[in-house]
Amino acid sequence: MKEMLEALRDASRQAIDAAADMDVLEALRIRYLGKKGELTAILKQMGRLSAEERPVIGQLANQIRAEMESELDSRKAALAARLQELRLNAETLDVTIPGKEVRLGKKHVLNTVLDEVTDIFTGMGFSIAEGPEIELSLYDFDRLNIPENHTVREWTDTFYITEDEKVHLRCQTSPMQVRVMEAMKPPIRILAPGRVYRKDEIDATHSPMFHQIEGLVIDRGITMGDLKGTLNTLMQRIYGPDTVTRFRPHHFPFTEPSCEMDLQCFECHGAGCRVCKGEGWIEILGAGMVHPKVLEMSGIDPEIYSGFAFGIGLERLAMRRFQISDLRLLYENDIRFLSQF
Ligand code: DAH
Repeated sequence: MKEMLEALRDASRQAIDAAADMDVLEALRIRYLGKKGELTAILKQMGRLSAEERPVIGQLANQIRAEMESELDSRKAALAARLQELRLNAETLDVTIPGKEVRLGKKHVLNTVLDEVTDIFTGMGFSIAEGPEIELSLYDFDRLNIPENHTVREWTDTFYITEDEKVHLRCQTSPMQVRVMEAMKPPIRILAPGRVYRKDEIDATHSPMFHQIEGLVIDRGITMGDLKGTLNTLMQRIYGPDTVTRFRPHHFPFTEPSCEMDLQCFECHGAGCRVCKGEGWIEILGAGMVHPKVLEMSGIDPEIYSGFAFGIGLERLAMRRFQISDLRLLYENDIRFLSQF
């Protein structure tokens, strides 16, 4: 029996040493030390021993049981430490690995140009005014001296909101002139950028929604010279110091006299080419001296004050600036196009 016990001790030692995880270890404990385990099985045969042998074998068996228990314990501790180490290794954060790149968005080209324009005007003492896109016809038409029979009042031109034609989506930023004159006394120097809406079919140069930048200056002694100086400064700051402009007579109901400003074509320098459609010049904005009736209707005395106003198409400005040939590109939100600017 002594040999059987010693063989069991050797076998269990080897098996415990080789146990690779906790489950195997637990199975070994049951196999050797459990109620139906191998050690118990041997001890059950003790009855067959002589009275002298019994205590000797009993002592040996107890010693082997104690050894097995301590071997199981220390193997268990070793395995736990290994598992802990593996887990820590797996969780290691390597701060030297290059980070994942996050794609940043970019300012839209229209905002880039608008920011440029507002910077230039705030530098000249203008403040920024914003107003509603759903506008009263009173402000967009009547107070701007737009006659009853003007085509812009037609349902085919303007997006009316109410049946009675009193409310519509503003078709220009000019009603901001009226809102500002109502809200403040001269001297007035404001810039009013925003969306405007017209019933136009979409093509390379038209869209039912686009942006304008309205400007209004009112003070004592304002002249056409102030208008030209201000707008020439704007163009030279945007398009470079060599930019050549010209002012052409025009008609707007809310200004008198009225003009349009052209830029000399940067492609042919006035000779006429494909870019300017043979004109040599490119129309860029409308402007004029605020009509005395418009001042009067908003409670400003035209005998004391005069002023100038202008309306710039933001899309046109941006398209010239970056030589973009199709308006639709500005609204399609194709990041490959927009990220170029
Ligand atoms: N509102 C005009 C338009 O949409 C542009 C314009 C012209 C605005 C002359 C003005 C101005 O303030 O004085 O075509």
